[in-house]
Amino acid sequence: MEIKGFSLTNVGRFKNLSIFLASTATHASNVTVFVGNNGAGKTTLLKFMATSLSWLVARIRTEKGVGNHIAESDIRNGTSNALVSIGIRDCSEGLESSFGNASSNMFLWGIARTRQGRKGSEHSSLLQVSHLANYYRTRLTENDKASLPLIAYYPVERSVLEIPLKIRTKHTFDQLDGYDNSLNRGVDFRRFFEWFREREDSENETGISDTALAEISEKFGPDSDVWKTLSKLKASSRDRQLTAVRSAIAAFMPGFTNLRVQRKPRLHMAIDKDGVTLNVAQLSQGEKSMMALVGDIARRLAMMNQSLDNPLHGDGIVLIDEVDLHLHPKWQRSLIRQLGETFPNCQFVLTTHSPLVISDAKDVLVYVLNDGELHEHNGLYGLDANQVLLEVMDTDIRNSDVQKRLNALLERLQDGDLETAQKLFAELAEELPDGHIELAKAALLLRKLELRRA
Ligand SMILES: Nc1ncnc2c1ncn2[C@@H]1O[C@H](COP(=O)(O)OP(=O)(O)OP(=O)(O)O)[C@@H](O)[C@H]1O
Ligand SMILES: [Mg+2]
Repeated sequence: MEIKGFSLTNVGRFKNLSIFLASTATHASNVTVFVGNNGAGKTTLLKFMATSLSWLVARIRTEKGVGNHIAESDIRNGTSNALVSIGIRDCSEGLESSFGNASSNMFLWGIARTRQGRKGSEHSSLLQVSHLANYYRTRLTENDKASLPLIAYYPVERSVLEIPLKIRTKHTFDQLDGYDNSLNRGVDFRRFFEWFREREDSENETGISDTALAEISEKFGPDSDVWKTLSKLKASSRDRQLTAVRSAIAAFMPGFTNLRVQRKPRLHMAIDKDGVTLNVAQLSQGEKSMMALVGDIARRLAMMNQSLDNPLHGDGIVLIDEVDLHLHPKWQRSLIRQLGETFPNCQFVLTTHSPLVISDAKDVLVYVLNDGELHEHNGLYGLDANQVLLEVMDTDIRNSDVQKRLNALLERLQDGDLETAQKLFAELAEELPDGHIELAKAALLLRKLELRRA
């Protein structure tokens, strides 16, 4: 399932905006990224995609389900009618929608809102969302283990790992529970913890516990046949859903392994970082936010695709606002590539302020939002961060005063004005750090000029 098109009329700052999302004929990846300055409207776009999708989730849950509405404050100032429309393509087996006499795999629906006391010119049209939801309900009715598409929105306020001290007693998690809070709160770590414990309990019931394995290793040695046989048995009884979550976290966070629930001395979640065991609460903000995001996507996919060999290959749509939040540049750079590799059948719609995020993945569809207008930006793959800053984000790559003085220096060098050049160079060399690349280039030119003069 993927969003093909989306349009806003008189919503937030947008008068009329229509967009197509990847994958398209020219952008094979299923990642679309929006960049733009503060207040450009990125969050508005994602929020209303989530609003539209909430109707699908609500109607998968119940036939007459009601999703989120457009709030009065979201209607563009000075206008009376707002409309949000979405077009979804879903090529699931046996699913077709009909338009007049033709049939296709496209499903369109729209939500409208009129200001109080005004006359409405737009109306919500929800026929096709019902039709699509109906398909999934039928599928679940026929087969208890049928998969559902993941639909999730991670707003900027996604709370990072508020780790509950007490957790509720066991309850079961079925596919539908994968939608719990998926469109309003983003990361739901309480559920993550509860779910993880529940899965681990059932894993331990059918398998061999870590402590037992450690004892055997101590007694008979890790090379003994007993240990080898038992650890093989343990591997085969590993819970598929837990394995999926653990492997997703390992892919995004190299060096972090073996996420687990520990019961002693107090119930908590633990993870090994380069061989050292840490309570998850002790991780850094960036580590937590990465783990929470990836863990949450993986958990939901695992719950919703219980019959897949690899639940991470489940189908879905994931919206993430400011995807680079708290992340070190190294992680920002690999993020999109990693999302595509780890969750190959999910469509991602992202916003970012980071030049690194968008310059490291091929075939990504990048839109620049400027004053409510949208421009597609192609060919960013492999560009360095400076060029992206200059060309896409319209931002100087260095302090403007330093840049001015560097420019003046280069001009003097070109004119062959050795004395002024030497003076400017000396001043800059005093202030800038050793190894400044532009200054090093200027030093070479200066040396050349001096030699020529000599
Ligand atoms: N009802 C409205 N009518 C007109 N303009 C509105 C309305 N509601 C919000 N806006 C404008 O839309 C902008 C909010 O856009 P949004 O939050 O989507 O920006 P953004 O691109 O996510 O910015 P940031 O990068 O800072 O998160 C604000 O500048 C606000 O002035
Ligand atoms: Mg925003």
